[in-house]
Amino acid sequence: MKNGKTFYVTTPIYYVNAAPHVGSFYTTLAADILARYYRAKLGRENVYFQTGTDEHGQKIAEYAEKAGKEPKDFVDSVVPEFKKAWELGDIDYDFFFRTTDPRHAEKVSEIFQKIYDAGYIYKGTYEGLYCVGCEKFITESDMVNGRCPLHPDKDLIEQKEENYFFKLSEFAPKLIDAIERNQYIIAPEKRKNEILNRLQGGVEDVSISRESISWGIPIPWDPKHTFYVWVEALFDYWTGPKFLDKGQFWPPNVQLLGKDILWFHAVIWEALLLAAELPLPKLIFAHGFFTLNGQKISKSLGNTISPEEIVESYGSDGARYLLMSAFSFGNDGDLSRDSFNEKYTADLVHGLGNLLARSAKLAEGLDAPISSIDVLDYSEGVSADYEALAFDQALIKVWDLIRDTDKYLNEKEPWKIKDDPARKAKIMEPVLRNIAQIGYDIQPVLPKIAELILEKFVGSVVTPADKPYFEKLR
Ligand code: MSP
Repeated sequence: MKNGKTFYVTTPIYYVNAAPHVGSFYTTLAADILARYYRAKLGRENVYFQTGTDEHGQKIAEYAEKAGKEPKDFVDSVVPEFKKAWELGDIDYDFFFRTTDPRHAEKVSEIFQKIYDAGYIYKGTYEGLYCVGCEKFITESDMVNGRCPLHPDKDLIEQKEENYFFKLSEFAPKLIDAIERNQYIIAPEKRKNEILNRLQGGVEDVSISRESISWGIPIPWDPKHTFYVWVEALFDYWTGPKFLDKGQFWPPNVQLLGKDILWFHAVIWEALLLAAELPLPKLIFAHGFFTLNGQKISKSLGNTISPEEIVESYGSDGARYLLMSAFSFGNDGDLSRDSFNEKYTADLVHGLGNLLARSAKLAEGLDAPISSIDVLDYSEGVSADYEALAFDQALIKVWDLIRDTDKYLNEKEPWKIKDDPARKAKIMEPVLRNIAQIGYDIQPVLPKIAELILEKFVGSVVTPADKPYFEKLR
């Protein structure tokens, strides 16, 4: 074990009512980048990356019914679509978690029994408007024109039923204190402030069970009720490593999610962990939302793009690069085919691809080998950017080096040297060194091309690739 350090990163577990969305791909890709980054630093065995699917609750039960299937058959039929999409995008997770795994039910029941026994759960009646799309109660202040802002096309459902409640209100002061003392970090800073403001405004207790939903995990002390899908799902981050005997990874170093589900992850989750007397995650990072061509991504508006389509057009490395360099992780942004096409051609075909092709040709047969020992670590600035989740900044730094290397070649014009291989080799040496460093630095985001660079450029001889590094767009 190097440094005795470990790294545990999570993504939300995704609803299986539909095929994977580019939004879920984005979150999962960021987690994959961090996992790859830390695997190179700490060794594969010291990194644990968990993603998966959220399979219980009213929404999934309704979709299953619409599909004319039993819920379990329905979820079993959708899960492979996620696995396939992640494989296409080169997502190298350590464990694909499913909430229908019986080991999860067992651990969730144990931990909630503990919270119940500690006196933090009581029975009450809930009356309110429920959004099945979000799987949560919507308050007056959440509503826009009397509807859920995220699912304006879905009617809110009036619900009144007996529920078990968790004493979230009791934990609000403790959470404020924990956030202010950086016991756990909520990032970006603006999100942390939003959460603090809302906590300071006072919070109500939250319901953690459903009486009318049978597609869920029964409450151990009152099995007529099932767990509210959100609280059960949140515990996946803990039950996974627990039932896999990977408890040494607890607590997570980074939990990634979109800003829409930050309240669950930065408040309810930590309060439940405090109640269960478990250590808190270190960083909760909420990325922004993106639009497509300036408009909300929406199936009903026909404004969508799937992860598969992006990979099909630009390859997996290309798709990963384009998504991560489009805007900074943590901000909102816009995606479009035009900007993807433009950036793909400029940065990958002409930028990196061209530098690799011309350098390989120039260095072929020369005695200027770069040993892999010469490139042992990330460049300093790039490393800091990855660790700060500033993926776009890391890429900007690498592309600066690509441009500088190109400039150097243009200035030195090694192609003009015809009969002095030693001089040519001397000129090419820094080029090859830069390329090897580029290969190392892009490895978390562009793993395929990084591997190819290592194979073609690092070693005793440089060998040109037999096809372009990045195919031109047709
Ligand atoms: N099942 C819950 C999470 C439970 S975690 C204990 C859930 N699932 S989800 O399938 O809806 O998650 C979708 C993910 O995609 C979220 O991280 C969400 O923020 C992200 N995105 C969905 N649309 C998005 C955009 N338009 N832009 C960026 N990301 C967005 O929530």
